[in-house]
Amino acid sequence: FLFSAFPLFFPVWLGLLVVSQWTSEAARPLERKAAAVGSSVLLSAPDNIKDINFIQWEYLNGTNWHFIVQYYVVSQKPTLYAPYGDRVVFYLPNGSLLLEKLQETDSTVYKASINLIESEARRTLLKVLRPVSQPQIWRNSSLAGSLIELFCNVPEGTVENIDWKKEGRPLPQERYYFLSENHSVLHIRKGEKSDCGSYSCNASNEISWQESLLYLTIFDISPSLEHALKMSAVALVFALVSGMGFFVLCCQSRKQRINGETWRWMIIFLQVLVCVSSVLLFAATLFWMQEEDPFAAFILLEFLLVYAIIVTALISTTLVCQPAKLSGFKTKPWQRVILDSAAPGAVILVVLFASLLLQKISRLQDRGCSQTVDLTGYAVTSAVISLLGLLTLFIWYHRSQGDQRENKRHSKEEADQEVRQDPEEDML
Ligand SMILES: *[C@@H]1O[C@H](CO)[C@@H](O)[C@H](O)[C@H]1NC(C)=O
Ligand SMILES: *[C@@H]1O[C@H](CO)[C@@H](O)[C@H](O)[C@H]1NC(C)=O
Ligand SMILES: *[C@@H]1O[C@H](CO)[C@@H](O)[C@H](O)[C@H]1NC(C)=O
Ligand SMILES: *[C@@H]1O[C@H](CO)[C@@H](O)[C@H](O)[C@H]1NC(C)=O
Ligand SMILES: *[C@@H]1O[C@H](CO)[C@@H](O)[C@H](O)[C@H]1NC(C)=O
Repeated sequence: FLFSAFPLFFPVWLGLLVVSQWTSEAARPLERKAAAVGSSVLLSAPDNIKDINFIQWEYLNGTNWHFIVQYYVVSQKPTLYAPYGDRVVFYLPNGSLLLEKLQETDSTVYKASINLIESEARRTLLKVLRPVSQPQIWRNSSLAGSLIELFCNVPEGTVENIDWKKEGRPLPQERYYFLSENHSVLHIRKGEKSDCGSYSCNASNEISWQESLLYLTIFDISPSLEHALKMSAVALVFALVSGMGFFVLCCQSRKQRINGETWRWMIIFLQVLVCVSSVLLFAATLFWMQEEDPFAAFILLEFLLVYAIIVTALISTTLVCQPAKLSGFKTKPWQRVILDSAAPGAVILVVLFASLLLQKISRLQDRGCSQTVDLTGYAVTSAVISLLGLLTLFIWYHRSQGDQRENKRHSKEEADQEVRQDPEEDML
């Protein structure tokens, strides 16, 4: 603590010292020196006194002066005092003192006086500093509209100042940037497009400086909103394709109706598609509500989607496993209505709300400087997958119809019976 607080207290303490020195005696002004830990520094004695009889070096510890060297010219031999004795070299001709293997605790005032003339004593304030190491710079967020903090951490060294720059120039005045007390954290209140760019922090002290750079990209939307955007796009495509499928099935002329196995798999495929798109929209809406305000309409939508997911999943599993059972669920008219309206209702719901969500999220997309999410790939892939599924079923239908025509020629009565039992009416 003492060392890290040193730069803070030093000026105050130094001020008091200088004032007291000035008031007690008209001393020579204080000289300043800075040196790195482990290096050596040469301190000079007064050079304006001719007849030298006695040279004395002292250092200040707290408020007391302690001896380092005393030298009487007549005695020929300087006397060195602990604890500096083995770390100093005293030069006889001019009285300079070389201080070696410097430690941070050597930061203090050194005084050389000749013939005990206090007014001519030469005082040097020595600052021993650890050179700063390369700062580590990082951010805790990069989302548009949020509080963004850039941290400048200097692992090693005595940091006296941290200087921030944007694009190599002082921080712009027109934006509100706030620095923490020791300048180690730069706060950006609400990240926006104009805050994108490179930031540098220059950590320095009197003997060294190091600078690090960070390129700040502000993202328009959070990763979960990005997921919501992609999910909505895929849900929309699936819902449109299944809507188209239902439409084609409804609009067929009575004669050319698809029936039997093809019909069953067509219905299963469409129900699954609706189920998947409802699940996707459900998840996308959850992400949206979690990030932005949960909005009553969306909560109601979630309930309807859960209902659609359950009903479509139920219908498709029943059709896959035990198609005969389905008519068992539809004995009452209200049951028929519930089961038959679920998928087309869900298609309309998904198309409406997926478009709404896409529009709402896209509107957030120009707040930052990241690349906008490209949805083309997602839309094209999901359209190709779902259309291929439909196409396969239609091709299958046409081939099986060819077979049927063959069969019909052989047994017309059986075919008539099949039409009468036509299961398709139960399923739409
Ligand atoms: C300064 O004084 C303190 C006690 O007052 C002592 O522990 C410390 O060793 C002294 N420092 C030097 C360099 O003499
Ligand atoms: C004093 O003498 C030493 C050794 O001769 C020399 O290195 C140093 O520069 C001298 N100092 C001054 C202030 O002349
Ligand atoms: C970044 O830190 C600040 C304060 O420490 C906090 O308010 C803010 O929410 C943080 N941002 C993120 C994305 O964690
Ligand atoms: C700046 O202050 C914070 C606490 O306020 C501290 O964690 C950090 O180490 C300080 N940084 C420097 C370079 O002194
Ligand atoms: C970093 O700060 C030091 C001390 O203020 C200065 O001498 C140095 O030129 C600065 N470096 C850069 C790249 O601005």
